[in-house]
Amino acid sequence: MNVVTTVIKSRHSVRKFKPETISDIVIKDVLECAAQAPTAMNIQPWLFGVIKNKEVLAKIAATADHGKFIAECPLCFAVFGEKKETYYLEDCCAATENIILALQAHGVTSCWVAGDKKAYAEHIRTMLDVPGTYTLVSLIAAGIPAEISITKKKEMKTIVFYEGFKTD
Ligand SMILES: Cc1cc2nc3c(=O)[nH]c(=O)nc-3n(C[C@H](O)[C@H](O)[C@H](O)COP(=O)(O)O)c2cc1C
Repeated sequence: MNVVTTVIKSRHSVRKFKPETISDIVIKDVLECAAQAPTAMNIQPWLFGVIKNKEVLAKIAATADHGKFIAECPLCFAVFGEKKETYYLEDCCAATENIILALQAHGVTSCWVAGDKKAYAEHIRTMLDVPGTYTLVSLIAAGIPAEISITKKKEMKTIVFYEGFKTD
């Protein structure tokens, strides 16, 4: 194990946060990590929104069916992808995971909230004045954890195969 794998393995989705704000130095570093994600043909088809305003957070929470806790988080990132680019979804998911792991490295917990495929994606886009050539891929609620619950992961032997898949 090294420091990066320890950060990855220590991450859990957190939905209850303390009211403490997250510093702009951390936010800048996290955004730079987002922009560092790999993208198909290096197109980088994304926009990253940073939302700290309580009223805007409450409006996002009101529309996100499984993201009501966004109203109580001190910080939320919104990742938008350029729809015309074939791999915008993969690219923006890579950036989303970079955001989550960079936050974790700074001791800031988070939860990925679905954007793409959600009926509210368009509503959040217009609310944030994002051009119609983009679509919401993810919201990332973030903050210092008030409560952490640990989910059960599948056993490695049930999800990994080497060379070729065998059933025995
Ligand atoms: C694409 C995607 C969409 C998700 N959407 C939501 C969501 O809308 N609301 C929520 O509370 N959690 C959401 N999650 C978080 C998952 O529920 C969480 O990752 C899963 O339960 C495993 O828990 P863990 O992140 O602690 O390992 C989403 C995760 C992914 C990858």
